[in-house]
Amino acid sequence: MSETVFKTRLTDLLGIRYPVLCGGLLHLADANYVAAVVNAGAMGFISALTFPDPEQLRDEIRKCRELTSGKPFGVNLYISARPDANDRLIPLVSVVREEKVAVVETAGGSPAAIVPLMKEAGIKVIHKAPAIRFALSAEKAGVDAVILVGAEGGGHPGYMMVGTMVQGAIGPERLSIPVILGGGIGHGSQLTAALAMGCEGILMGTRMLVSEEIGAHRAYKQRIVSGDGLDSLVVMTSFKNHHRVLHNEAAEAVAALEKSGSQDYADYADLISGKRAREAYATGDTSQGMLDYGQSACFANEIEPVVTIIDRFMQEAALGLKRIGI
Ligand SMILES: Cc1cc2nc3c(=O)[nH]c(=O)nc-3n(C[C@H](O)[C@H](O)[C@H](O)COP(=O)(O)O)c2cc1C
Repeated sequence: MSETVFKTRLTDLLGIRYPVLCGGLLHLADANYVAAVVNAGAMGFISALTFPDPEQLRDEIRKCRELTSGKPFGVNLYISARPDANDRLIPLVSVVREEKVAVVETAGGSPAAIVPLMKEAGIKVIHKAPAIRFALSAEKAGVDAVILVGAEGGGHPGYMMVGTMVQGAIGPERLSIPVILGGGIGHGSQLTAALAMGCEGILMGTRMLVSEEIGAHRAYKQRIVSGDGLDSLVVMTSFKNHHRVLHNEAAEAVAALEKSGSQDYADYADLISGKRAREAYATGDTSQGMLDYGQSACFANEIEPVVTIIDRFMQEAALGLKRIGI
């Protein structure tokens, strides 16, 4: 494989082999999974909010450090749009600084308050944004790189629902810092396409859910294997909090509530609670919970180790290059 082609400002920034990021996965991206991603040559992020007790997060970071034998790895910091909800993030940010992780992936709200805290500690910041205007603000705030995620993506693709193909072309045109493309990515040829558009790497979430190292029930992973990505549903649009999830009974109930015109959050609380999603991951009962899931599930056809998924992805990327004569 022509590895030099896959050397970009992103691989230089993070000291990684492949320009591939595996984004934070609430309740799922723990030390085991992130270490597998890092050891496969990509970059992974422990989801801080999975470990609301700061000492638990510290243990997870230390475990990951051991499993990766000192290679750089990251932590995901999801910033809520509701400032009061970020109180729980403050002690976690302190742990990330004290433990001097290599990089954080910020997402959700503006990273402006977090950037100086990370810079002081020598930690790189990559901000994930759902549209170019937020990416431009993040660049101004001093982040090292941005991830632009398109509407195809699992989780929160933003209320503007801009497609990945548009994000991939507009990002490098408007920004000077490296741009990473995400949303619906699960085949290596999409990395080739992203590089051709001027992006310097890609990000995956849904594609990785069927990894052996993801600590969820096998029945949950089998459900994703049997899915085709068309079975996702975007809910909470009436709250402008678009959420692309597996089309299950709970998501249908949420869609029905929205259709009925309810704007009372209390009506939704149980259906959308994180507890329900955690139970689904633990028991394999995928009928409940808002289970983040995007269109790239169509590429997740087998439960496999992370390294197998990443190796194949890079082979597909190399084949993509050959196809266009590089
Ligand atoms: C199960 C799951 C959980 C996620 N949890 C988080 C999270 O905690 N923080 C975050 O920034 N993004 C989260 N995301 C979004 C991913 O990091 C990534 O941006 C998204 O999955 C990319 O789109 P894709 O699913 O099409 O690959 C999650 C996605 C999934 C599928």
